[in-house]
Formats: sequence, structure tokens, C-alpha cells
Amino acid sequence: MPSVPVLQGYALRLRPPETPELPTLFDWYNDPEIVAPFDRYTLDSFESFKQALGEADGDLRSLAPRFVIERIEDHRPLGFVGHYRPHPVLETVDVWYVLGVREERRKGYGKEAVGLLVDYLFHAADLTRVGATCDVENQPSMRLLEGLHFRREGTMRSALFHHGAWHDVALYGVTRSEWAEAPRSLTVTREPAP
Ligand SMILES: CC(C)(COP(=O)(O)OP(=O)(O)OC[C@H]1O[C@@H](n2cnc3c(N)ncnc32)[C@H](O)[C@@H]1OP(=O)(O)O)[C@@H](O)C(=O)NCCC(=O)NCCS
Repeated sequence: MPSVPVLQGYALRLRPPETPELPTLFDWYNDPEIVAPFDRYTLDSFESFKQALGEADGDLRSLAPRFVIERIEDHRPLGFVGHYRPHPVLETVDVWYVLGVREERRKGYGKEAVGLLVDYLFHAADLTRVGATCDVENQPSMRLLEGLHFRREGTMRSALFHHGAWHDVALYGVTRSEWAEAPRSLTVTREPAP
């Protein structure tokens, strides 16, 4: 499993995936209605999912989930988030995020989880910018990013093929100084990994 710290927020913590919950995570990951209403979807096997998780450490380009989103009050896993280097030359890191339990969406969990992740990335790495991309029709994702003071930097036309058609993709980013200045309702404390 990826060796990542535990990030403590208000309602949520982000923590490394645990072996007994991998089938649940895989079910989310492999359900196009959960992970990919606005994204490319490829069917994966449980074995390759586990392998990707095992190999994520130290691989900046890995798309494997890095953290599970756990609700503090009942320890329920709600989703997962990741980060990766999308470009071989540009020194930026993009975040991605999925609320796997659909009935728990629209309660602010996605925003809190991504806020914790971005905060962690700026603390843990010498980054000047954190980015994200999403389909221009993905309103929940764009509102989440804008609520965290990401700026929309442009639109990549016909950049993503899914559901039988090419889609435009919105490019978002927040710089280190913007992040430091943004009003924040989250306080983040770090604990050592268990
Ligand atoms: C994107 C996602 C993680 C958002 O999670 P969430 O927990 O519902 O998000 P939040 O409750 O924190 O809401 C964030 C913002 O999005 C808005 N939002 C959430 N769902 C919405 C919807 N269905 N339609 C319109 N706006 C929506 C919220 O109102 C909030 O905006 P506000 O702060 O201006 O009120 C979730 O919808 C998801 O997992 N989607 C599928 C995977 C995905 O598309 N991931 C992103 C890939 S780029």
C-alpha cells in the first residue's frame, strides 16, 4: 500500500488504503457510473488494481488512488483521491478525486478532501502550482475546484474521448501563493502513518 501520511480535516481524514477494503475501492473504481460519468473508462482487473496501488509509491505518474477519504465520526470510507504528474516536462502535479458513496455527495466532502490533498502537496513538495482537469460539462468537479480558489486557465478542445465522442476539457490551477492567500476553513494537522 502507498506509504502516505494521515491528513486530518474537520469531518474527514485522508489515509492510506487498507488491504481489507480493497474490494470496496475496486468496486468504485470499476463502476463507470461512479468514477466516470464525465471521463474515459477502461475496465480493470482486481489484480492489476492491487498491483497499481502497490507500485504507486515513488511513481509520480501513477494514477492509482493515493488516499482513502474516511469520515471521522463513523470511520466510513467515502471515496478516494490521487495526484500525478501529467506532463513529462512541466513540473506540475494534478489532483483527481472521487466520492464513491453517491448518496454522500453534495455534502461538502469532496471539497474538504481535495482541500486537504492540495494543502498536503504544497507542504510536502516544492511545487509552485497544483492543477486539475475535467470535462467542461462536469459541473460538480468545476464547482469544487472553483470553491477551492482554483482558477480556470483555459479549455483544451476535443482532448478527451468518452461515451462515444470527443469532449472539451477545462484546465484548472492554483499557485502556491494563491493557495496561501485563499481564505481557508480547513485546518490540517499531520499525524505519522500508522
Ligand atoms: C466531483 C465530486 C468528487 C464532488 O464531490 P462532492 O462531495 O459532491 O462535492 P461537494 O459536496 O464538496 O461540492 C463541491 C461543489 O460542487 C457542487 N456540486 C456537487 N454536486 C453537484 C451537482 N450534481 N451539480 C451541480 N453542482 C454540484 C456543490 O454545490 C459545491 O459547490 P458550492 O461550494 O458552490 O456549493 C463527485 O461529484 C464525484 O465523485 N464525481 C464523480 C467523479 C468525478 O467526476 N471526479 C472528478 C474528475 S475531474
